[in-house]
Amino acid sequence: MKATAILLINVYLLSTFQLTNAASSKMHANAVREEGKALLVWKVGLDNNNQLKLSSWSALRNPCTNWIGIRCNKVGKIAIFNVTSFGIKGIPNHLNFSSFPHLTTIEHFDNALYGSIPPNIGNLSELIYLSLPGNHFSGVIPIEICKLTTLRHLILFNNSFHRPIPQKIGLLSSLVELDLGENELTGNPHIH
Ligand SMILES: *[C@@H]1O[C@H](CO)[C@@H](O)[C@H](O)[C@H]1NC(C)=O
Ligand SMILES: *[C@@H]1O[C@H](CO)[C@@H](O)[C@H](O)[C@H]1NC(C)=O
Ligand SMILES: *[C@@H]1O[C@H](CO)[C@@H](O)[C@H](O)[C@H]1NC(C)=O
Ligand SMILES: *[C@@H]1O[C@H](CO)[C@@H](O)[C@H](O)[C@H]1NC(C)=O
Repeated sequence: MKATAILLINVYLLSTFQLTNAASSKMHANAVREEGKALLVWKVGLDNNNQLKLSSWSALRNPCTNWIGIRCNKVGKIAIFNVTSFGIKGIPNHLNFSSFPHLTTIEHFDNALYGSIPPNIGNLSELIYLSLPGNHFSGVIPIEICKLTTLRHLILFNNSFHRPIPQKIGLLSSLVELDLGENELTGNPHIH
């Protein structure tokens, strides 16, 4: 009698556990699909969106496991967006950063991206690594960058950014690397 009751409780616990698990993995799948959709909008907006390197980016594939340059965190949210030397050209304005609240790394080294950094980059509250060197970005570095208190690496060399450098960059206390070289930022940067 006692044993049966324990068994029933176990079966009950096991099935709720499995249900919860299934429900939560479905939730994760939906979340990553939303993030993937935002990246596809960005891809379509590129000047050369048929770039071979991006051919793995398809709505039919899982961004976490099948998209080159994309990595997810343990709970299946996009965390790393690394398109180093993908040969892509375009403006980043189509990228809605609010769709990727868990991004920790943006690495766009050596492409032909142009235009200015969208102010909504300041919404990436977990960003640690922002690297856009070797592109044609211009305009000012948006003041919203100073909201990124988790940022450790800010690497923007070899672009066409203009002054002024936001003064509050000096307040980014986690920053260990700042490289703004080879831009149009000559003169006293006033970052102290
Ligand atoms: C991005 O990818 C390139 C090429 O695969 C690699 O060398 C680089 O270390 C990566 N960057 C980061 C920040 O992971
Ligand atoms: C950007 O994404 C956020 C969160 O997913 C959404 O609330 C917002 O409407 C989007 N903005 C634009 C301009 O698409
Ligand atoms: C994202 O950032 C923009 C510009 O800083 C701001 O206006 C907007 O409210 C933010 N959106 C979210 C969802 O945090
Ligand atoms: C700067 O970036 C361009 C590509 O945008 C590249 O062709 C050039 O070699 C880079 N220059 C240096 C000094 O790294």
